[in-house]
Amino acid sequence: MTSTPELAGRAGRPTATPAGPLHRPSELTPTIDVSGLVDADGGLLDRAIFTDHQIYQQELRRVFAPSWLFLAHTDQFRRPGDFFTTYMGEDPVIVTMDKSRAVRAYLNSCRHRGARVCRADAGTTRNFTCTYHGWAYDLEGRLVSVPNREGYPDRFDTADWGLVEVPRVENHRGLIFGTWNPRAPSLREALGGMAWYMDAMLDHDGAGTEVVGGVHKWVLEGNWKLSAEQFATDWYHVNMSHASALMLLAPAGKSPRDEIVHRAGRQYVDPNGHGAGFPVHPKNRFDALAVHQWFDYEAARARLGDARVEGPMTNGHATVFPNFSYLPVNGSVRVWHPKGPDRMEVWAWTLVDRSMPDEVKEAQRLYNLRTFGPSGVFEADDGENWSEVQAISRGFVTNSVPLNYQMGLGSEREDGRYPGKTSELYSDAAGRAFYRRWQSLMNTPAWYEVDR
Ligand code: FES
Ligand SMILES: [Fe+2]
Repeated sequence: MTSTPELAGRAGRPTATPAGPLHRPSELTPTIDVSGLVDADGGLLDRAIFTDHQIYQQELRRVFAPSWLFLAHTDQFRRPGDFFTTYMGEDPVIVTMDKSRAVRAYLNSCRHRGARVCRADAGTTRNFTCTYHGWAYDLEGRLVSVPNREGYPDRFDTADWGLVEVPRVENHRGLIFGTWNPRAPSLREALGGMAWYMDAMLDHDGAGTEVVGGVHKWVLEGNWKLSAEQFATDWYHVNMSHASALMLLAPAGKSPRDEIVHRAGRQYVDPNGHGAGFPVHPKNRFDALAVHQWFDYEAARARLGDARVEGPMTNGHATVFPNFSYLPVNGSVRVWHPKGPDRMEVWAWTLVDRSMPDEVKEAQRLYNLRTFGPSGVFEADDGENWSEVQAISRGFVTNSVPLNYQMGLGSEREDGRYPGKTSELYSDAAGRAFYRRWQSLMNTPAWYEVDR
């Protein structure tokens, strides 16, 4: 880890801190108590949490900075110097493989005047050279080149001015997450029971997954929580919002009503705010025919068990709190990057099983693009809903009318078939858990507030 000085000029010799020079936010911005904005027990939500700029700033400080956030897939880093640039909240980061083949992440901001030191989306490099004045950093984040070095005083030591490193980077079955919080529980602990559901997508046969077709990125005029909560909890919208898409994709000779309209199913409700919804239908995996025919369901049943194969493996959607979501059948994994209270960027990857023949991988990729690509038939429906809800929430009166999250109140239970607590397929239970977690983080000082 590179050492990081305090803000220049505070104290003669810089002091290293694990996560960089963070000011105490309350010194600059009052902290809002959000107790009255989320009633998770009663299922009510104040729309200000989607529109208020101060709340948004507090989210960056208290929800995004302390949480495990999705960065990339291990498949994107095959040799030293491979890099991918992304965001943690609104903080730009570079994810790269160093010379020892370890995947590390750095704040993508030059220690000189703060420009990004890497302005490409992805690639391979030997170092990151800032295009402003030319400071250059190696794959280990060290400052290795300073033009006109002799102009600086003797006490200027390049060892003090390396890139700020993300202190914790871990992966779960190829999904790389990072957190700025040096005291966060391990990624596996933070995922908790959610890992069982994620593995229904990531661990079909032990060979793992890989990325096909790059990363798709698009902008939506909506708060990031609208999409994250929907993927955690909302199967209820499917038959109405996606009616036309369902008709289009129903298998030949079968009506959408027979094949798709399900009330049978469950919704996983995680105490850390994660959630997953899935119909239970043992026979019909509703996806690309080539994938369906290639897949070895009996082997999957032996590996993952009937409950997973008949539920979260063959259909569904899910969110890992706060802003990582996925669709297990499509192989779509995505981050809802916050870009202000009323805007997000969706970054989406398509994952396929490494063991698939090339033509099956291609069928999976095309199926995902048709359904949940930037202009996919389902994706377009969802984006329209989120922008609609966001746009009218700007109205003063509209904004003061609470939203209803009461479906399935009190329905969560342990049933022995699925790990943790589950609710009905049509339920807001995981949504209430999502906002309960959000509220708790928003009202809890983050590690950098209590440690100084
Ligand atoms: S801002 Fe990077 S070298 Fe000056
Ligand atoms: Fe949807």
